[in-house]
Amino acid sequence: MEYRELVIRALKKLPDSYVPYSHFHVAAALLSEDDTVFEGINIENASYTPTVCAERTAFFKAVSEGYRNFKAIAIVGCNEDALSSDKYKINLEIPAFTPPCGVCRQVMREFASPDEFEIILAKSPDDYKVYKLKELLPESFGPEFL
Ligand code: THU
Repeated sequence: MEYRELVIRALKKLPDSYVPYSHFHVAAALLSEDDTVFEGINIENASYTPTVCAERTAFFKAVSEGYRNFKAIAIVGCNEDALSSDKYKINLEIPAFTPPCGVCRQVMREFASPDEFEIILAKSPDDYKVYKLKELLPESFGPEFL
């Protein structure tokens, strides 16, 4: 699958985020080894700490369906003003890149190769940048240490 398509899957998922507290929408589209796509959104909570990020929602959906190997994840995020703008509605454009939090990077590390897994940060279907997991999580600790 083209990364452009994966980015579009994430961008289209943004309105589904459950964000009554931060009002910051995040969505992710996770590409498995066999090209199955799992979408995820951030899910907040009145007690705040149980909030789950979009990336982890996507990973946990996939892992709970038996998937273990992944190629890439596209991540997008924006506030509600951006989501209600014509730029988003017409062109799927948002103002800024949203990098994954540290906890999500570590969850990726559990199920993905630091040298191969790619993290795609996007502002539109045609404006995205691609990092290897090891670039965003250097000298990481993973399953093979145990
Ligand atoms: N958030 C994500 O979903 N992914 C990240 O990697 C960064 C933060 C969410 C959590 C919370 O719902 C909102 O963004 C503001 O922190």
